Amino acid sequence: MPYYRRVGEVPPKRHTQFRRPDGELYSEELMGQEGFSSDSSLLYHRDPPTAIAAAEIFAPPAFAQAPNLPLKPRHLRTHKLDAGPADAVLGRRPLLANGDVRIGYVVADRPSPLYRDAVGDECLYVEAGAATVETTFGPLTIGPGDYVVIPTSVIHRIVPEPRVRLLTIEATGHIGPPRRYLSARGQFLEHAPYCERDLRGPRESLLREDTDVEVYVKHRAGWTRYVYARHPFDVVGWDGCLYPWAFSIHDFEPITGRIHQPPPVHQTFEGPNFVVCSFVPRKVDYHPLSIPVPYNHHNVDSDEVLFYTGGNYEARRGSGIEQGSISLHPSGFTHGPQPGSVERAIGAEFFDELAVMVDTFRPLDLCDAALSCEDTGYAWTWNR
Ligand SMILES: [Fe+2]
Repeated sequence: MPYYRRVGEVPPKRHTQFRRPDGELYSEELMGQEGFSSDSSLLYHRDPPTAIAAAEIFAPPAFAQAPNLPLKPRHLRTHKLDAGPADAVLGRRPLLANGDVRIGYVVADRPSPLYRDAVGDECLYVEAGAATVETTFGPLTIGPGDYVVIPTSVIHRIVPEPRVRLLTIEATGHIGPPRRYLSARGQFLEHAPYCERDLRGPRESLLREDTDVEVYVKHRAGWTRYVYARHPFDVVGWDGCLYPWAFSIHDFEPITGRIHQPPPVHQTFEGPNFVVCSFVPRKVDYHPLSIPVPYNHHNVDSDEVLFYTGGNYEARRGSGIEQGSISLHPSGFTHGPQPGSVERAIGAEFFDELAVMVDTFRPLDLCDAALSCEDTGYAWTWNR
C-alpha cells in the first residue's frame, strides 16, 4: 500500500518498550514484503503471535484443472453454480487458474474460519450482498462494488451479512495500484483514476479473548491447520504502509475521449503476471464519427477474463452474457463485439456497464466448476 496509516496505540519510538496495563511488554511484530525492502507495518500484540499449540495437515476441498483445449472462448455462468451453504474461504469454487493467479466465485452465507493466505495477496470483489472482513489490523465493512485487497499472510475471516457474492482473485505475490499511477514515493499521481481519498483502511482494533483458536493456512507446500494458543485478533495498535484495504469500483473515475480509449485506461490493480481492470458506467466516445464499442482485438500475450457485474455490456449483446457471467477470451483467439453491436452502439452517449477484468500473462486452465456452468454455445456466437 502506498501510504502510511496508524490505528490504535503504538509507542512513540519503534522497537522500544511498550507495556500492557499489567506491566508486561506487548509483543511487537514487523510484517514486511520483499525481504523487508518494501512496504511493512509494525503490530503490537497483547500476546506473542508465535504461540501455536498444534499443527496438522489440512486437505482443502479438491478440484481438478485442465488446459483450455480445444482453445475456445468460454462463457461461464456463475449463477448456475450450486449455491449451497458455504463460507467465503473453504466454499470457493475455483474456476480459472494458472501458476500466478486463481480466480473463483462463492456465494457465502456463514462466517469463514480464520484464514491466512501465505502464498500471496487476495483481491475479493463484491458482486452483491455485504460482509465484514475481520483482520488482525481491524475490521473492514464491504458491500456491492467493493474490492478488498488482503495482503499475504494477514489472518482474517469473512463474515457475510447475511449473504455475499464474491469474485475471488488469489495471487502468487502482491497486488497493488499500477506503478505508472504512483510517484517514486508511492503517492497517486493526478492522472490516476483513483487516489488515496478513495481507499478505506481499518479504523479501529479488533480484540478477542479466546484461547485455542484454529487458523487455516494456505502456504506454498499445501494447507496446515494451526491451533493458536490465543486469538490472533489481539493487536492493540499498528502503523505502517502494509494493511488490508477496500476500494469501491464506483469510485473508479473512467478515462474517456473522443475516440475509443485503449484497454489499459481501465486498469485498477497489478499483480504478478496479471492485471485487474474496471469497466464502469461512463460517457462514451464523442468524435462525430466515433464507434463506441471496441474494435476486434487480440491481446497476444494475455488471456482475458471479464466478470459482468452490472448494467448491460454493450459489446456482448446477443451472446447470452448475463449478470454474473464470466467470459474467457484466450490468447490465440481474436475477439470483438458480437454481430450487430457495432452499428447499434453508434450514436450512443453513455454506457451503463460494470465489469471486472483480469488479464493474465500466462494461459489459464479451466477448473471443473467452470466446466459445470459453461455455456458451450458461446464460442460460435460471432458466427451469425
Ligand atoms: Fe476484450
